Amino acid sequence: MSGVWAVLVAAGRGERFGGDRPKAFAKLRGRVMLAESLERLERSDWIEAIVIVAPVEWEEPSILLAEELSAGKVSSCVPGGATRADSVRAGVAEVPDDVPVILVHDAARPLLPEAVIERVITALGDGWDGAVPALPVADTIKRAGQDGAVLETLDRSGLVTVQTPQAFASAALRSALVGDIAGVTDCAGLVEAAGGRVRIVEGDPRLLKVTTPADLALVETLLASE
Ligand code: CTP
Ligand code: MG
Repeated sequence: MSGVWAVLVAAGRGERFGGDRPKAFAKLRGRVMLAESLERLERSDWIEAIVIVAPVEWEEPSILLAEELSAGKVSSCVPGGATRADSVRAGVAEVPDDVPVILVHDAARPLLPEAVIERVITALGDGWDGAVPALPVADTIKRAGQDGAVLETLDRSGLVTVQTPQAFASAALRSALVGDIAGVTDCAGLVEAAGGRVRIVEGDPRLLKVTTPADLALVETLLASE
């Protein structure tokens, strides 16, 4: 399979995570967190090439990491922007125009199963512009006011939480990234706002996002049992 490029966004500072380096370079079982998702994309049969979006001034360590991992699919490494959407835009700009499908993945989700890559990519076509992995919401969802008072209890049927990797027809993603992209937290949201059709596929609990050190500890446990 060819024709799918991956944009791996790793340019966030990791403010909620804390620490003396960007979150993608926090240690996960003796390696930097970025190594895990990079290696999985490199090994994937679905991915032809990879663009790494690195924190400003961390391009060099990112390229060295790709060399260490013999990640020959890495085609370029570019610095990210102020928001995640800016970073995605910087990465997508490195993908050649004739590539039909772009897969966007968060380096903050190190455990990337091949089956999910396959699911989002094969869900495209038939007029779908994007496909995103999601899990049903397990807890009851309420809307709370600023004073802590419950305003309403939502009907959770049909509600899902969304993960990455997210796959897009590249034309749809590129046009969604033009213009004002502030305030949108995932690429699918941009494509939806531009009128694109995005579908849900089954996600995976292992794709949890590392936001705090406690999340990293959980990912380490899951990795040890793989
Ligand atoms: N990201 C990025 N560029 C940004 C912000 C985020 O490439 N300007 C990436 C992160 O590196 C991460 C993914 O988007 O892989 C999801 O973002 P998040 O988990 O929020 O990471 P951070 O923004 O780094 O964390 P925080 O919000 O706590 O600062
Ligand atoms: Mg963030």
